[in-house]
Amino acid sequence: MAQSHPQLHLVKHPLVDHLLTEARDTQTPPDRFAQLVGLISVILACEATRDLRLKPHRVQTPLTDFDGKQLAAPPTIVPILRAGLGIAHDMFQLIPGARMGHIGVYRDEKSLKPVNYYENLPTDAAAGPVFVVDPMLATGGSATAAVDLLLARQCTDIKLICLVAAPEGVDALNAKHPAVPVYAAALDRNLDSRGFIVPGLGDAGDRQFGTGA
Ligand code: PRP
Repeated sequence: MAQSHPQLHLVKHPLVDHLLTEARDTQTPPDRFAQLVGLISVILACEATRDLRLKPHRVQTPLTDFDGKQLAAPPTIVPILRAGLGIAHDMFQLIPGARMGHIGVYRDEKSLKPVNYYENLPTDAAAGPVFVVDPMLATGGSATAAVDLLLARQCTDIKLICLVAAPEGVDALNAKHPAVPVYAAALDRNLDSRGFIVPGLGDAGDRQFGTGA
């Protein structure tokens, strides 16, 4: 856990360092960028799901009974549209019984304030852990708006997974929602005057989907 950011869990792993460096590279094309987002997300998800509760589950192996385990409550993965979709896709395959909820928030390019435009969550999302996913935590406005919405839907066990975080975003989320841990592959230097993370990886939505300039 980073000392000056009490709720930040930086996931240190050689594969994360290698894959994230490739994602930062402007030479990386959209199809590979999207693949990298998914691969890094699986490693982050392994850390973020470490404390999921289990219940007993007996199965029959080809030889005998086996007293095994299964997840006690179905987790909900909530991508913030649209850049969060790449993380959500691979996490959905990793976590058995997971459901997917969607929250649409975009950042107004001038004010940098979040604008909510879509919500579709499982009706019982509050019954289990919720993982909000978005590659970038910049000003923190979008993540804070997503957590606001989930709390209003009675969700209490909420974690955020992102690829790169700016200190400003971590602090902003922590100030409003100190109980929400952040799992990230990197804590970058700062935000520039346009609210872009530096060094960052550019606009993760545009780079995954081949849109933008
Ligand atoms: C990006 C990103 C986050 C948000 C981060 O989304 O995916 O959702 O900005 O910025 P913040 O922490 O300052 O709120 P964007 O608005 O570009 O929308 P998109 O995912 O549809 O591309």
